[in-house]
Amino acid sequence: MRLTYTSDVWWKNAVVYCLDVETFKDGNGDGIGDFRGLTQQIDYLAGLGVTCLWLMPFFPTPNKDDGYDITDFYSIDPRLGTLGDFVEFMRTAHDRGMRVIADLVVNHTSDQHPWFKESRKSKSSPLRDWYVWSDKPEPDDPSKVVFPDKEDSLWEWDNRSKQYYLHSFYKHQPDLNVANPEVRDEITRILGFWMELGLSGFRVDAVPFLIENVDPKLPDPHEFLQDMRAFMTRRKGGSILLGEVNVPYEDLVQYFGDGLGDQVTMCFDFISMQKAWLSLARQNAGPLADALRERPKPPKDGQWAMFLRNHDELTLDKLTDEERQEVFDAFGPEKDMQIFGRGLRRRLPTMLGGDLRRVKMAYSLLFSLPGTPVIFYGEEIGMGENLDEEGRLAVRVPMQWTRDGGFSPAEPVREVPEGSFAPDRVNVADQKRDTASLLRWFQLLIERYRECPELAWGTYTVLDAGHHAVFAHRCDADGATVVVAHNLCDTAVDAELELPGLEGQQLTDLLVDGTLDVSADDAKVKLPLEPHGCRWLRASPPEIAPEDAGVMSQ
Ligand code: NOJ
Ligand code: CA
Repeated sequence: MRLTYTSDVWWKNAVVYCLDVETFKDGNGDGIGDFRGLTQQIDYLAGLGVTCLWLMPFFPTPNKDDGYDITDFYSIDPRLGTLGDFVEFMRTAHDRGMRVIADLVVNHTSDQHPWFKESRKSKSSPLRDWYVWSDKPEPDDPSKVVFPDKEDSLWEWDNRSKQYYLHSFYKHQPDLNVANPEVRDEITRILGFWMELGLSGFRVDAVPFLIENVDPKLPDPHEFLQDMRAFMTRRKGGSILLGEVNVPYEDLVQYFGDGLGDQVTMCFDFISMQKAWLSLARQNAGPLADALRERPKPPKDGQWAMFLRNHDELTLDKLTDEERQEVFDAFGPEKDMQIFGRGLRRRLPTMLGGDLRRVKMAYSLLFSLPGTPVIFYGEEIGMGENLDEEGRLAVRVPMQWTRDGGFSPAEPVREVPEGSFAPDRVNVADQKRDTASLLRWFQLLIERYRECPELAWGTYTVLDAGHHAVFAHRCDADGATVVVAHNLCDTAVDAELELPGLEGQQLTDLLVDGTLDVSADDAKVKLPLEPHGCRWLRASPPEIAPEDAGVMSQ
């Protein structure tokens, strides 16, 4: 594929790395991560192969939802640094070739935001209509309560101004009303402000809530997403919106901007993520294969964002009750590991019992799946969770740099895990020196992923591998093909693939040495896989070196 093109549409095969400044690296010794600390670690991230950082909210906040409750959209949480520190960080990231996006949390504000304080003063406040108020809201649908551990309603009575206000999340997070043009203008101003400071886009929090939970209902809620995207494209052509849209596939396509691709640039693929976990639990490729076969194609220049874990609970809300129970039984059987009745507050390696082969296979799968991979800090070294931390904070533990933690010389903002996932067992410094480590495996996967843009860009086909435990697919683009197979079970398996169009070609293994020949007669190839084995193979005619495959056709 032509690099000039993949470089323009950079996000389509980016490597997105999500981190929270607060827990990544403390630069001034007060126990709280900050921009100065993060800036010092930029070379680590560049060395890993990250191309785009996603920063979780770093704005002033009462911190009742770990920063997703904002009191000022135009500045920096003083605990994390100053605007000056932020700009230095941006400059350094850009210097190392990395783009930066940030969380855009504008479905709601904190109840401590001056806008809400003003709005709730009285029914005649000039900012009254910036939020969603009602004398008598519709009765609650309990299934719509996102955080049922703390809330039992979407509406809260405000005694002073004698109306209810809407809060799709916690009651301290009143919903902004984007039906109000002034609110939409303000959101655009926020986008423009941070883009001016160098951001390449935003991870948009809670997109369906943002456009639907408003008053009065918008005649076309998607128009606002179109406006946002158009504004950003005017200001900076390559900027993106990465949307948190956890809805069924059939409802999701409209968030890309049906056919046109003029709304959310990339949407997280929550469905195949959940099905991947079901497949891992069953050691059966079926659920993931079915999901990817059914998955709608995004519009041209739209993309799926792939992930296995993120900063929230591992939500299993789109599985049936029985399927969810299967995943709970396999990966989080204890009540304390479960949350909200729908998810697990664990990181991947602990769920996979610390089995390094299996963990490596899971991430190989992630990087090879069709879409743009998004990883959560610490995944690259196999960090575990700390269940002693409250709720979802269990997975947001301080980054483990060295055997003694290395996050801060002071008492850290959150406790690191103990036992086999403690810093003395899981840390960056040790893994840098160990060629067999997970960190080195990530570097290899990222390097290969970037060398195989077909994986993210190509037309993918899920293959029948002749064995229920093997997930295999091929990606074709510009006359080049990459074939990938993963063995989800713990015994060795001989898969057999049929690869029409590749008759007589050679498959070069990109992760270990070796080649395989595709039969010239029936396009079949036998593919031995170790227990939890994985193979990435580039097809090329025997007379062409694999690195030149695909180049010839341009
Ligand atoms: C989704 C975020 O990922 C989550 O962490 C947050 O609590 C809610 N949105 C509310 O902002
Ligand atoms: Ca600090």
